[in-house]
Amino acid sequence: MTTTTHTGDASTPGLRLSGVELTFRDGDQTVYALAGVDVEVARGEVLAVVGPSGAGKSSLLAVAGGLLSPTSGTVEVGGRDITGLGRRDLTRFRRDHVGFVFQSGNLVPALTARDQLRLVGTLGGDRSRRRDPDHLLEAVGLTHRARRRPATMSGGERQ
Ligand SMILES: Nc1ncnc2c1ncn2[C@@H]1O[C@H](COP(=O)(O)OP(=O)(O)O)[C@@H](O)[C@H]1O
Ligand SMILES: [Mg+2]
Repeated sequence: MTTTTHTGDASTPGLRLSGVELTFRDGDQTVYALAGVDVEVARGEVLAVVGPSGAGKSSLLAVAGGLLSPTSGTVEVGGRDITGLGRRDLTRFRRDHVGFVFQSGNLVPALTARDQLRLVGTLGGDRSRRRDPDHLLEAVGLTHRARRRPATMSGGERQ
């Protein structure tokens, strides 16, 4: 997962989670997926989260990337507190600032590689080079796959 944002200065952490808890109800039990996580990641820092199945890795990424809101605690990205954002604002925040590489592609089956990328730029109203489909394909060495649909791409190519 990568996060980028255009707010805050260089000393502002890229990501800060403070006292983050994420719980689920399982019948009359409360399951803690995250039980008091404090973590700070600097801009440009690369962090690998390692742990056994069920440890809470996916939960951590979902909360850090604005896919899920924590049950308690705060999440700041580039100095901006996203904890209290509603669904709409959180969706916008993800669209503009968060990139996810899912284990399974999470792609639109009917669209070519180029059109998947074009769709994201269109939704965000961002036609800059940063979002240019051909530029993005070239950056990951997939220019020759621009017209392929997900069904005929490898797992790695989809990611
Ligand atoms: N939607 C959910 N409902 C109930 N429990 C969940 C849900 N998602 C995750 N959990 C539980 O939270 C814990 C952490 O899950 P997860 O973050 O997916 O772990 P990991 O990605 O490290 O394998 C596990 O005990 C899991 O069963
Ligand atoms: Mg997982």
